[in-house]
Amino acid sequence: MNIIKYLQSQGIGSRKVCQALLANNCVAINGETPPDDIADPATPQMLTIDGENIPTLPLPHFYIVLNKPANFETSHKPQHYPSVFSLLPLNWQNLDIQAVGRLDADTTGVLLLTNDGKFNHFLTTPKNHIIKTYHATLKHPADDELCHKLVQGVLLHDDNETVKALFAKLITPTLLAMKIDSGKYHQVKRMIAACSNRVVHLERTAFGNLTTDGIKQGEWRIIQKAEVI
Ligand code: URA
Repeated sequence: MNIIKYLQSQGIGSRKVCQALLANNCVAINGETPPDDIADPATPQMLTIDGENIPTLPLPHFYIVLNKPANFETSHKPQHYPSVFSLLPLNWQNLDIQAVGRLDADTTGVLLLTNDGKFNHFLTTPKNHIIKTYHATLKHPADDELCHKLVQGVLLHDDNETVKALFAKLITPTLLAMKIDSGKYHQVKRMIAACSNRVVHLERTAFGNLTTDGIKQGEWRIIQKAEVI
């Protein structure tokens, strides 16, 4: 891949900016003056600009697991809180990176980000039943009756379809682990509200095979597509 195209694809700047950086010997790849063509853009390269390390993404498609903190919006145009995308490196801010589904601003945990629109669509299409695991902290102590109701299926307010949890188990009377394979708006909170309880905190602990293991809140990791499901 042509070096200018490569730098542009990493969010370094316009064609003109990248040309100027190269002409002024500001760019190094793997510690060396960059070649005219990057032989293996699928492998993240060690890029430095003016001696500063710049994180690179594998091309053409990349997959990033973010451990989402509370008070960040899953949106490129946030209204009340900063965007989850603002947690990524500066040079990635203008790249076409989308979230796979949404987490509410106050929900924490696993959020997959990618530029692979086809895979994103696959993962969010209900018929593909991608399993999401949540830990919900409840306002009121609950017993197995709640788990039973969630697995049997509940009717959501303003919806005429029942939705079921694949699995629901209390870890403590106020901490519920729950798996769902659909992704309706505020689904977990609405399912629990339909059982006369309330979620005071929600964490997505897994999306498919992905977890936040080894990723601190607010941090991210580049993963392989094959790790997702
Ligand atoms: N269900 C919710 O209610 N909120 C989320 O953020 C995710 C699932």
